[in-house]
Amino acid sequence: MSPGGPERRARGLRRELRHHSYLYYVRNRPEISDERFDELFRELKALEASHPELVTPESPTQRVGAEPLDAFETIEHTAPMLSLDSSADVEPLERFDERMRKALGDDIGYVVEPKLDGASIELVYESGRLSRAVTRGDGIRGEGVTENIRTIHSVPLRLRAADREVPPLLALRAEVIMRVGDFEALNARLLDSDRAPFANPRNAAAGSLRQLDPRITAARPLDIYVYDILAIDGRPPPTQQATLEALREWGLPVNERCRPAADVREILAFQAKIEEGRDDLEYEIDGIVIKLDDIAARDEVGETSHHPRWAFAFKFPPRKEVTRLLRIVPSVGRTGVVTPIAFMRPVELGGVTVSRANLHNREEVARKDIREGDRVRVQRAGDVIPQVLERIDEPGRERKPPWVMPTECPSCGTALEPRGPYTFCPDLFACPAQLAGRIQHLGSRHALDIEGLGEETASLLVREGVIARVPDLFALEAATLMELEGFAEKSATNLVRAIDAARTTELARFIYGLGIPEVGVTVARELASHFLSFEAFREAAAEGEAAAEGEALQEVDGIGPRMAEEITAFLARPEVSAVVDELRACVEPEPPPRAGDTLAGLRIVLTGGLESMSRSEAGKKLEALGAKVTSSVSKQTSYVVAGENPGRKLERAQTHGVEILDEAGLLELLRGGPAALSAPDDTPEAADAAPETGAP
Ligand code: IVH
Repeated sequence: MSPGGPERRARGLRRELRHHSYLYYVRNRPEISDERFDELFRELKALEASHPELVTPESPTQRVGAEPLDAFETIEHTAPMLSLDSSADVEPLERFDERMRKALGDDIGYVVEPKLDGASIELVYESGRLSRAVTRGDGIRGEGVTENIRTIHSVPLRLRAADREVPPLLALRAEVIMRVGDFEALNARLLDSDRAPFANPRNAAAGSLRQLDPRITAARPLDIYVYDILAIDGRPPPTQQATLEALREWGLPVNERCRPAADVREILAFQAKIEEGRDDLEYEIDGIVIKLDDIAARDEVGETSHHPRWAFAFKFPPRKEVTRLLRIVPSVGRTGVVTPIAFMRPVELGGVTVSRANLHNREEVARKDIREGDRVRVQRAGDVIPQVLERIDEPGRERKPPWVMPTECPSCGTALEPRGPYTFCPDLFACPAQLAGRIQHLGSRHALDIEGLGEETASLLVREGVIARVPDLFALEAATLMELEGFAEKSATNLVRAIDAARTTELARFIYGLGIPEVGVTVARELASHFLSFEAFREAAAEGEAAAEGEALQEVDGIGPRMAEEITAFLARPEVSAVVDELRACVEPEPPPRAGDTLAGLRIVLTGGLESMSRSEAGKKLEALGAKVTSSVSKQTSYVVAGENPGRKLERAQTHGVEILDEAGLLELLRGGPAALSAPDDTPEAADAAPETGAP
């Protein structure tokens, strides 16, 4: 045993190992061989094994092996971990700079840093020892993942005090990352053992941090960069540059690409340089962060509850990625267009995992010469569907033969018809794929809005043969549904009820729900307010057929000759016409309210004789103001107007709890709308009567 006994030797070994760990993991500048390091490590382990009382929590041997937790503790942050104001455009960055100059004058400076795409974490050092690590959580409190953070070799368990005094309390903000190479190796390992891979390095880092068993985290190749002091007991460094320097001196890993920048020009130059080298960086970044250098000035500009006003994240524009195209599958949409869909090896694009893209049509596939098995570049801009931009040449690699559009519909086997670059399945209503698509569309939010009739259910109903034609939807019975997989009594009755409720709907919704080519939500609304009844619209479309130019349709805002022609041609098809007839028999579309329609949305039943006018006259007056006059009383009835010798309708009104008006009430209604009635006028019907301006 060395002089001074085991305690002294253990201390010496710890110090030595800590130093070499720091040189290796933080500075990336090892001074001894891996073998020598392992030798020292083994010696310390052996010493601690024979003298367990010598083990300290900060011993380099204590990075692995803590017992699994049952759950993470929720811990409040030392100071709120705010988010960042961000944009990918230059203008908001310029405005940020202007705000800073306005508040502080022109004598300001920034520090620009790579914006690391990892998991944000708070590290707390008390008396120089790592005491806790907390995930960002909601910014106020997060999960205590101290044991997991301890397994990251570049995280010092004890701060270095050699070059700078260590404050009693130091709370830091850092980003846990996984290097791209390590991420890929980890995913390969996961796949080998039949486990789900991570979508991107950020998820891998965050997922690895949230392991209840620290031994799993220890086996994950995590790294960390520290970039901010959240709280300090003592005087903080005066600038961001000094902060980064202090962090380095305490032995913490600081990103080596942080730079001072004087103004927007220098910021943009930094950004350009970083972006240029982005693909060569061994870790993922999603932009740069610009921070006011002067810490005291930060207090002057302050913060919102969301982000500090002294920092700004300038994000990179959406990324393009390269992946492999696995298969091209033709997919039949609701309108019969057969679209080639690219199935690709999943790839992360601007925070989203992409595995499919629309290849639009067979000409596009041919033009780009995209084949199964090719390497392709994909792009995602905003939230639009990803695009396959191009294929990447792989010299020497044998390619599959060009992709060809099938000649028969993959869903129903009907011979496909080319129309320009597109390909159609002509079997509009019997093709199962189109039928399911049409049913889903009819039930969609802007159409009849039938809750519970989504893509899956529509496909199921068609696949199981419960629906063979669109109007069958209105004959569905709960008992039939309950026999289908995934339906229970409640879901079955709910769907039938939702379908029933759709039997009266706004005209625009009905028109849109028919899935007429070219008729989207806006056009449907224009058609409804122009024609006011479905029959008038249909007649106008049929006139177009006769004149072969759809003139009456073209009077509608936004409808040109080509659109009119499409609408006319679609409605004139015998199979369309038959389905529309049947649907019309099931659904009652109501005209949209017009300006001055004070009674819009009201359903009124007249019964008994009136003194001041005849019943039919009263009906006309009510209808002229937008009310709907019906002959039978139901729960949907807003008012029953009861004159002399009312019939059974009065009784029905009473049993349904429908409000009853006498002739005076009718006159008030005609004069001033429902608001004029002295009776309680806050019935739901009255409230609903306000003309709707929103989307159908
Ligand atoms: S400073 C209050 N600097 O970006 C200011 N954040 O989108 C604290 N991030 O949650 C943030 N690199 O996790 C800062 N060099 C850097 C960063 C950085 C990555 C993360 C951070 C934050 C997120 C905001």
